[in-house]
Amino acid sequence: MAILLTGAAGFIGSHTAVELLNAGKEIVVADNLSNAEETAVENIRKITGKDFPFYKADIMDENAMDRVFEEQDIQSVIHFAGYKAVGESVEKPIMYYENNLGTTISLLKSMRKFGCSRIIFSSSATVYGDRNPIPYREDMQTGIGITNPYGWTKYMIERILTDAAAADPDLSVVLLRYFNPIGAHESGLIGEKPNGIPNNLMPYITQTAAGIREKLTIFGNDYPTEDGTCERDFIHVVDLAKGHLAACEYADEHKGTEIFNLGTGHPVSVLELVNAFIRANGVDVPYTFGPRREGDLPAYYADATKAKEVLGWEAEKTIEDMCRDSWRWECHCRSLSEE
Ligand code: UFG
Repeated sequence: MAILLTGAAGFIGSHTAVELLNAGKEIVVADNLSNAEETAVENIRKITGKDFPFYKADIMDENAMDRVFEEQDIQSVIHFAGYKAVGESVEKPIMYYENNLGTTISLLKSMRKFGCSRIIFSSSATVYGDRNPIPYREDMQTGIGITNPYGWTKYMIERILTDAAAADPDLSVVLLRYFNPIGAHESGLIGEKPNGIPNNLMPYITQTAAGIREKLTIFGNDYPTEDGTCERDFIHVVDLAKGHLAACEYADEHKGTEIFNLGTGHPVSVLELVNAFIRANGVDVPYTFGPRREGDLPAYYADATKAKEVLGWEAEKTIEDMCRDSWRWECHCRSLSEE
């Protein structure tokens, strides 16, 4: 019996694949490589020394998914595949709704056809919108003040999966709300690979340290936070990956829908992260303060109690680990591009 990972050539999927294989689970990977490279799949094999079937397939293609379920003995699905760039989602909303909702629906249909009844979904803290008090708890109302189509797709998919589980007593749904994943595997072989100019903070920091970008602009230093810059719940991607292992085991034992925040429960400011990166790696990151970025919330972080109590999972790695591992990955990418 195997766990199917959609989008596992991507940042969070690839790290989860490694943790599942290290825990002795069997996996099957499906990815259309639209925003990832096949080397990530090879490197999952290299890190773990284990093999697994890889399907280069579009998750929206129901026939292709049916073939995966026909050929493999799939017990549960972790659904990572999806578009994830907030800005792009504002420019291309239809593409985002079609892909993110379409992949989920085609997966659910294939799962039902082949009697697979467990699904773990990559959701986001973005579903908490902009009205909830911090820290965010899983029982808070979601969907108020979501500001972009990407966030809405996460909200809508949570709804689709919850409704599907309400209608099918056999179905087990686990919604994982990620906070801000950064870091990389300590081997330096897998990590986050943004296309073009990075939107997210850590890839921008590493590319600035590597000299690819001239300097980092910190968006806003007049927020009502301790140092005036935004605060986020940065979580090491390997900790996040381990949360999926715990969620899979939970889904094996429970029916219905359950929601878990995957965060550390501790806010760290943008400026603190930049300084931690400089300290941890002994490299310079030139930065300047710029105006606020539209749509950014001043501060948010997870209440991580539920995942600890119910899943027995909590984040263990430090900000220094995140900074060191992100930099090792950037250096690995640079060394390859110079070859
Ligand atoms: N930031 C900068 N300069 C940059 C990039 C980012 O100062 O060049 C700041 C942002 O203003 C923000 C913080 O760094 O205050 C974090 O920004 P990211 O873009 O890395 O992350 P966000 O918190 O905006 O977004 C993340 C995920 C989204 C998810 C969202 C909500 O990237 O996918 O959390 O949970 F939707």
